[in-house]
Amino acid sequence: MRLSVTDRCNLRCRYCMPEEGVCLKEHREMLTEEEMITAVEAAAALGIRKLRITGGEPLVKRNIVSICRRAAMMEGIEEVCLTTNGIFLPKLAEPLKAAGVKRINLSLDTLNPEKYAYITRIGTLEDFRAGFHAALDAGFEKVKINAVLIGGFNDDEILPLAELTRQYPVDMRFIEMMPMYDSGDFPEASFVPYTRVLEALPDAEPVPADGGVAKLYRLPGAQGNIGLISPLNAHFCGTCNRIRLTADGKVKPCLHSGDEYSLKGLDFDDMKAVLEQAIWNKPQWHGDLDAVNRSKAGRNMNQIGG
Ligand code: GTP
Ligand code: 5AD
Ligand code: SF4
Repeated sequence: MRLSVTDRCNLRCRYCMPEEGVCLKEHREMLTEEEMITAVEAAAALGIRKLRITGGEPLVKRNIVSICRRAAMMEGIEEVCLTTNGIFLPKLAEPLKAAGVKRINLSLDTLNPEKYAYITRIGTLEDFRAGFHAALDAGFEKVKINAVLIGGFNDDEILPLAELTRQYPVDMRFIEMMPMYDSGDFPEASFVPYTRVLEALPDAEPVPADGGVAKLYRLPGAQGNIGLISPLNAHFCGTCNRIRLTADGKVKPCLHSGDEYSLKGLDFDDMKAVLEQAIWNKPQWHGDLDAVNRSKAGRNMNQIGG
């Protein structure tokens, strides 16, 4: 289960959310910490073993360490992981590791400071670097970096980004950009297929998958893998075992479907029943996604958590 703890973010990535930020929901519409923990408990009772905490940006949430600690201690939950833009990791990497977070995924689309400032609208590459090194120093079991592939923006940086797997013990994943609700008007040429990565990395050798959604490769002499996540050009719906819970308490059985089941205000037994119903009603696949056929999620990525 992917648990989005907030839809807010300290960045504004162009493919993820509008510049003006989020349409602020009333506080009472959002799940409380107690409700999030009860939902995790209900998910664990149904057999869910892995929790990934997402946002928006999960580290802008004031009680993030407490949420992670309580989830990591939950009987049945074997692994709590986190996806973050990394900006707040200099302060939070160690407390999160101590709270039981096992693995961390970071977002980085470019190694060029001007381009980083452009794509995130308000971020600096320097802040990212500080967070990245804090993550490496904290000793998580695994650090992965996510780059959203954008034609005409970072498809000329595939090799330098992939080289990070030679310099550091990290996986580098390239994600086909998903056309969300109103997350930017990208022209057709921005939607680059994952095969472009393999063309740029002729030395990459396939390696077995690690249970995630990425197809894995490795460069000779590298310390980590290259991952390709291809929701548009080679969808993986047939093997998808994820459900998502949004910060406003909606279970989404598929990232790109408008189907939502509310957990807000429910007790443990009712949350468990609704989660079970959502799981059984998981759609077979999400339908075509491309520059024209946008996601039917009805939300931007920051309101789902990826
Ligand atoms: P691990 O495999 O545990 O490392 O995590 P992850 O790849 O699932 O998590 P992360 O938050 O880093 O997600 C990376 C990208 O994969 C994001 O863009 C997600 O939206 C995308 N992704 C993850 N799961 C799915 C899925 O079920 N369907 C689709 N279409 N995209 C997914
Ligand atoms: N398409 C693909 N990936 C996206 N992410 C955010 N928005 C999109 C999108 N429209 C990625 C972020 C982060 C992960 C959780 O989702 O870069 O790494
Ligand atoms: Fe924030 Fe991540 Fe969305 Fe960028 S992709 S705006 S860092 S939630």
